[in-house]
Amino acid sequence: MSHLIAPSILAADFGNLQRDIEMINNSEADWIHVDVMDGLFVPNISFGVPVIKAVQKHAKKMLDVHLMIVDPDRYIVNFKNAGAGLLTVHYEACNHLNRTVQAIKAEGMQAGVSLNPHTPIAVLEDIILDLDLVLLMSVNPGFGGQQFIENTYKKIIQLRDLIDKSGSKALIEIDGGVTDKNAHKLLTAGADVLVAGSFVFKSENPIQTIAELKNF
Ligand code: DX5
Ligand code: ZN
Repeated sequence: MSHLIAPSILAADFGNLQRDIEMINNSEADWIHVDVMDGLFVPNISFGVPVIKAVQKHAKKMLDVHLMIVDPDRYIVNFKNAGAGLLTVHYEACNHLNRTVQAIKAEGMQAGVSLNPHTPIAVLEDIILDLDLVLLMSVNPGFGGQQFIENTYKKIIQLRDLIDKSGSKALIEIDGGVTDKNAHKLLTAGADVLVAGSFVFKSENPIQTIAELKNF
């Protein structure tokens, strides 16, 4: 499988959200990455369900919803109704991760789990077979436009090994500080999905930037 690109609308122009979603529709992007922040799990608030519903109205690609919120079980149905195709929760935000993952799947969504930069891959050993995706944060979550953390490469290699040994079908998604400078190395290490916010939306020609990332 060739790798997937998921532009993050956290870096979009919220005053022109429809325009920016249509740009993604017309690009080689595979998914639309949607970052939900609650001001508790991370020190920032982004947007919630009504905004995602508006995005879904115009989106022609799957919504890849990344929840940076505490106790996400409270809102699984709401995000399903808002149009999420894949719902990713943080390992660090769930007391009963197995239950949360099963609840996401019971709603007919794909289930992802995200790890913060300091969380070791080994914590996934007993859940990896249940996952459709693992999202490795390559910055500390909460903000776009931060610098990529180099330790991520080591974690991708460890995660690829865990996935292969267990027979899991989970995809590896990398989120934070992705650019044309690190994309190739990330893919070589074993990444399947690259999220890119600032690098896409702050570029002069976002459609072309997405194509560059897609065709590495
Ligand atoms: C950060 C978010 C990322 C963010 C990435 O907490 O999870 O998805 O949008 O933005 P860039 O690509 O600018 O680092
Ligand atoms: Zn994200």
